[in-house]
Amino acid sequence: MTTLGTLTTSPIGFGCMALSHIYGGTTDDEARRTLDESIDAGITFLDTADVYGKPVEGRSGPAGTNEEMLAPLLARRRSDVQLATKFGITGITLGEGHRGAKSTDGRPEYVVDACDASLRRLGVDTIDLYYLHRADPDVPIEETVGAMAALVAAGKVHHLGLSEVTADEVRRAHATAPIAAVQSEWSLWSRDVERHVVPTCAELGIGFVPYSPLGRGFLTGMLSPEQIATDFRGRTERMGTGWDANQRAVATISEVASEIGATNAQVALGWLLRKAEQIGVGCVPIPGSRRSARMRENLGACDVSFTDDQLHRLDSIAEGVHGGRNVTDDPRWISSGRE
Ligand SMILES: NC(=O)c1ccc[n+]([C@@H]2O[C@H](COP(=O)([O-])OP(=O)(O)OC[C@H]3O[C@@H](n4cnc5c(N)ncnc54)[C@H](OP(=O)(O)O)[C@@H]3O)[C@@H](O)[C@H]2O)c1
Repeated sequence: MTTLGTLTTSPIGFGCMALSHIYGGTTDDEARRTLDESIDAGITFLDTADVYGKPVEGRSGPAGTNEEMLAPLLARRRSDVQLATKFGITGITLGEGHRGAKSTDGRPEYVVDACDASLRRLGVDTIDLYYLHRADPDVPIEETVGAMAALVAAGKVHHLGLSEVTADEVRRAHATAPIAAVQSEWSLWSRDVERHVVPTCAELGIGFVPYSPLGRGFLTGMLSPEQIATDFRGRTERMGTGWDANQRAVATISEVASEIGATNAQVALGWLLRKAEQIGVGCVPIPGSRRSARMRENLGACDVSFTDDQLHRLDSIAEGVHGGRNVTDDPRWISSGRE
């Protein structure tokens, strides 16, 4: 097990966004079967958000359907899992080619409503880790986090988290109420958070949860351009115009993987665990897959190790990557765009 602040979780988590329509989709029954098998294998830290899932016609605000998919599973297995969800992104249709400005809401009154709505959809009394998904540029983070702290006092939430925040925002939030974890993109090809955010988390005893740790599937070497032609990944710089150039990254990962008898996914996740250990931060990557066999494979990352030379080659990957990590046109959407 691993500790994020004061929350104990499995060493690898399950990113539940991958179980909704965004990367191809699955049925709710299949999704829950995948989750059941993954939990049995030891992946007990579940990551969702109110905005994940296919939007429902006529329903305004966050889709909520990924949380609703989880409810029957949680009714059976609440005590087997550590449950994380997020609020603060309002009314967008993730995964349908949306690249424009996105709206956020961090007003204290919205925090209360959003949490009650998530608890209702999930069918639970408490959320183990409740994240602010994106800071609201119009609301000081102290005000949003103050309202989140009131949820802890009310027993609705156990721990607080932040997503895509700058180091300065982490400090301001943590001075308002204890933050257990920061979640942002961190992987072999997305390393900007190593400059300020991850070291700040290490200093303050806050855990780090790397999202898209497999580069949305790209780093595994298992994706083809045809597979992503109909989802938003094909329109990103990295997997659109940069597809061919970025095969160099996959080649280096595959080379190391064959040397140590592991898979690309295990190398990508194992590198993150090793990097976090070097920096001194508690770290739980949250890959997601529609297949439990792949999640069991991902858990195997805990057992891989690298020579210094292999680490050096993996460390060099990011320098040659074509395209930035932001998936919207607004640079402020990710922490490095505001640093
Ligand atoms: N806070 C935020 O703003 C934010 C943003 C993005 C994501 N997230 C969270 O982070 C989680 C993970 O991110 P992600 O889903 O974008 O990216 P990811 O985990 O880097 O990649 C997911 C993709 O990788 C494939 N995959 C998983 N394991 C594999 C393996 N062992 N071998 C080959 N392919 C594998 C999956 O395909 P198959 O299903 O076909 O196996 C899926 O399409 C999300 O589910 C979500 O919970 C948070």
